[in-house]
Amino acid sequence: MGTGPMNIFDRFRLDGKKALITGGSRGLGRAMAQALAEAGADLLLVGREAESLNTAREQLSEGGRRVETIVGDVGTPAEAERICKEALERMGGFDILINNVGGRRISIPTEDLPLKDWQNILDLNLTSAFLCCQAIGRGMIERKQGSIINVTSISGIVVNKGIHGRTYETSKAALTAFTKTLAVDWAPHRIRVNAIAPGGFMTDPNRRWFKEKPELHDTFVNQIPMGRLGEPDEIGPLALYLASDASTYMTGATLVIDGGYTLW
Ligand SMILES: NC(=O)c1ccc[n+]([C@@H]2O[C@H](COP(=O)([O-])OP(=O)(O)OC[C@H]3O[C@@H](n4cnc5c(N)ncnc54)[C@H](OP(=O)(O)O)[C@@H]3O)[C@@H](O)[C@H]2O)c1
Repeated sequence: MGTGPMNIFDRFRLDGKKALITGGSRGLGRAMAQALAEAGADLLLVGREAESLNTAREQLSEGGRRVETIVGDVGTPAEAERICKEALERMGGFDILINNVGGRRISIPTEDLPLKDWQNILDLNLTSAFLCCQAIGRGMIERKQGSIINVTSISGIVVNKGIHGRTYETSKAALTAFTKTLAVDWAPHRIRVNAIAPGGFMTDPNRRWFKEKPELHDTFVNQIPMGRLGEPDEIGPLALYLASDASTYMTGATLVIDGGYTLW
């Protein structure tokens, strides 16, 4: 604690903290990276494509923060392990881990779903988070501090209409359960583990779905009491809350941010 009286906003500061964000180059990960950088954190971002990572690095480092990037696919277990190892070598350790990478990508009814697709989606949404928590969490355990945020989905709570591919719902529900178990197991190490469950946000995957199936847009928006999808920058403050000392008594929670979707 500083010498002067603490301002409430000081509890949201992340000066001197280091954060690893999987998939920080676009979409929700990019918005969370922005929020953390503005609060003072140095960042390491991971993505499969170098170009958008470089753009993110240039923009996010404008405020004076150190921003490193690693190109790789966290949906492939061996790659996830390689990425974490490299991330630790570069930054020495992390105070904050955001397991943001995930997705649906396919819409195949369960009766037709090949086993390989099932496994790939579980690797992408669940195993990636397990491996990153394990690799990055070890250092957090040693230092007895850390905040982990798993990005789940309202699809881990309710089933989405008009789309198949239930591996997504299943893996996000499992990630919610993993969040709770890890919160309990790592509470003695002073590591907090929480989840953010977004509803529909206007990011590239949704733009793609709405282009392929225009009727999906109206079905979706009609189910949102607020009558619109979220904008990525609306998730930044929530990530900052969970990442920072503003939420020191919160662990194992899943915070829903969905414009009211799950209320109906
Ligand atoms: N948008 C929504 O409405 C919504 C709703 C509920 C939950 N979510 C969850 O929020 C998270 C982010 O979604 P988003 O909509 O922001 O997605 P997005 O716009 O597609 O962004 C995904 C980010 O992750 C990177 N990425 C994707 N797959 C990767 C992989 N296998 N390895 C490494 N990096 C990877 C992307 O960069 P590259 O493409 O270059 O790899 C990009 O930086 C996901 O877990 C998703 O399930 C989103």
